[in-house]
Amino acid sequence: MFKTLLKHVKNYSLPSILTPVCMILEVIFETIIPMCMGLMVTYGIEGNDNTGDMDYILKMGGIMVILVIGALVSGILGAVFGSVASCGLAKNLRKDMYENIQSFSFSNIDKFSTAGLITRLTTDVTNIQNAYQMLLRMAFRAPVSMIFALFMSYLVNVKIANIYLIATIFLSIGLAIIMLNARKYFSKVFEKYDDLNETIQENVNAIRVVKAFVREDYESEELKKAAGNIYKMFVKAENVVIWNSPLMQFTMYVTMIFISWFGAHLVVSTELEVGELLTLFTYCMNILGNLMMFSFVFVMLTLSAASGKRIAEVLNEDSELKDPENPVYEVKDGSVQFKNVCFTYKKGSGKNVLNNINLDIKSGETIGIIGGTGSAKSSLISLINRLYDVTEGELKVGGVNVKDYSMESLRNQVSVVLQKNILFSGSIYDNLRWGNPDATDEECREACNLACADDFIESFPDGYNTRIEQGGTNVSGGQKQRICIARALLKKPKIIIFDDSTSAVDTATDARIRKSLKEAIPGTTKFIIAQRISSVQDADRIIVMEEGEVNGFGTHEELLANNEIYKDVYESQTGANADFDEMKGGAI
Ligand SMILES: Nc1ncnc2c1ncn2[C@@H]1O[C@H](COP(=O)(O)OP(=O)(O)O)[C@@H](O)[C@H]1O
Ligand SMILES: [Mg+2]
Repeated sequence: MFKTLLKHVKNYSLPSILTPVCMILEVIFETIIPMCMGLMVTYGIEGNDNTGDMDYILKMGGIMVILVIGALVSGILGAVFGSVASCGLAKNLRKDMYENIQSFSFSNIDKFSTAGLITRLTTDVTNIQNAYQMLLRMAFRAPVSMIFALFMSYLVNVKIANIYLIATIFLSIGLAIIMLNARKYFSKVFEKYDDLNETIQENVNAIRVVKAFVREDYESEELKKAAGNIYKMFVKAENVVIWNSPLMQFTMYVTMIFISWFGAHLVVSTELEVGELLTLFTYCMNILGNLMMFSFVFVMLTLSAASGKRIAEVLNEDSELKDPENPVYEVKDGSVQFKNVCFTYKKGSGKNVLNNINLDIKSGETIGIIGGTGSAKSSLISLINRLYDVTEGELKVGGVNVKDYSMESLRNQVSVVLQKNILFSGSIYDNLRWGNPDATDEECREACNLACADDFIESFPDGYNTRIEQGGTNVSGGQKQRICIARALLKKPKIIIFDDSTSAVDTATDARIRKSLKEAIPGTTKFIIAQRISSVQDADRIIVMEEGEVNGFGTHEELLANNEIYKDVYESQTGANADFDEMKGGAI
């Protein structure tokens, strides 16, 4: 994991090296200052016979000013380099994660969930950024400073330095116990953050549904619960961490009492100068303070390890779908063959979503697909443009196995209007050109004409330049579906798939769209998934899906004659006692 993350420091390795160097310089300057102060008191103020030596004081004062400026400058530089390096790392991580996510297949995305990916891109990266900055600035500075101060104390007086050593060991053990306990709670906090993010993401995304079902109170409760859990965990963790300060103070004051007592004795017996005692006091604060700082760095690093792991998972995730070595770039025609195809979303976990599918579809045919919700209609068509790979069997498009195509070429030739379609913020033109970036205004209008979208678009005050809000919330469901159809048509594909794409369009417009498609693109293979028999009955052939299997495949007449399911659905939708079933697939 560390290796993966470190690789992304890349062009920020210079500041990453300079930061600890500056911090160590600062330590060196800082540690010499108390020494000078001691000397100043010993030789400057007290002098040989308590007369004082002004020249010596001025000389030492001068050196101390230079040291302070040195410490200040290296401290500032260290902070600047540290920020540059850590922000740079965060930038690189986000960019590389984002690029890798773009290459993910649908099954990769299923694995992480959208909420999970967003948390990893935002909160987790911020954690790593803070931890990295802390690491560069403190992880070297604190121990170096501590050891240096300890070393200097030994130079001044061995007996007193021994007291420091004992105090340091005592405090280290105390801090370690506290931090190990706190870590337990802190890592739980991070797990709870995931819950919180999921609740927020889900409900903000679905805010319209929440309002429509008057579930605001319930959803607020859910959030309160998630936030409350984090609160509880944090309080627990802080209750442990809070002992840091008393422990530190206790050790420091006890040490000081000891030093004062011993020191006084030593001074009286002229083993120690007053100036030296002063120096030792300063080092005392220095050593114990740094130890405390180091324990914080330690906790911070162990905590961010969880974030690092989550980031590394995204960075190291290989797309399950890859282009073959020598891909085929041309899709010859729009024929599709399924040969003994089985498919499951989770490999090796029991039940297949699709079972033993055998279909032979000629180029240019119009194929209707009908079946209850969950009968795997969407799963069936998502294999054709390789959003998922078949688990068993073989699927050919244009006579070539889909795995042999370059994915880009295949998807350019197989256009899908997905059941859950999304428009992006931007003008209608912008959205249409997702289908084909080079499409002229004329071509865009033509596609909209075919999709019966021109009427309503032209009635907008800004026409084709109307801005679509994020997620397409300012157009109706039926309008959105028609813009999506036009967008798919602009690709001029060999195969076009409509997954319940006209469910929110009225029956008459639905018929008009089908008629204009039949006339305008006769050579294109069309798959039409629908809930309404009327949407598929004039297709060349119709597939009846049931529980992941093909229950019937034939023309409307054939199926009416010998397919029970088809007959039932037909009768329920057209008979005298039609129960308005055709509305079932209505606006989603
Ligand atoms: N991304 C997915 N991950 C796991 N299971 C899925 C996924 N999408 C659909 N399924 C499951 O596959 C089955 C078929 O779903 P689907 O193809 O969407 O049916 P339909 O389009 O006919 O309503 C359902 O049982 C559904 O729960
Ligand atoms: Mg579906």
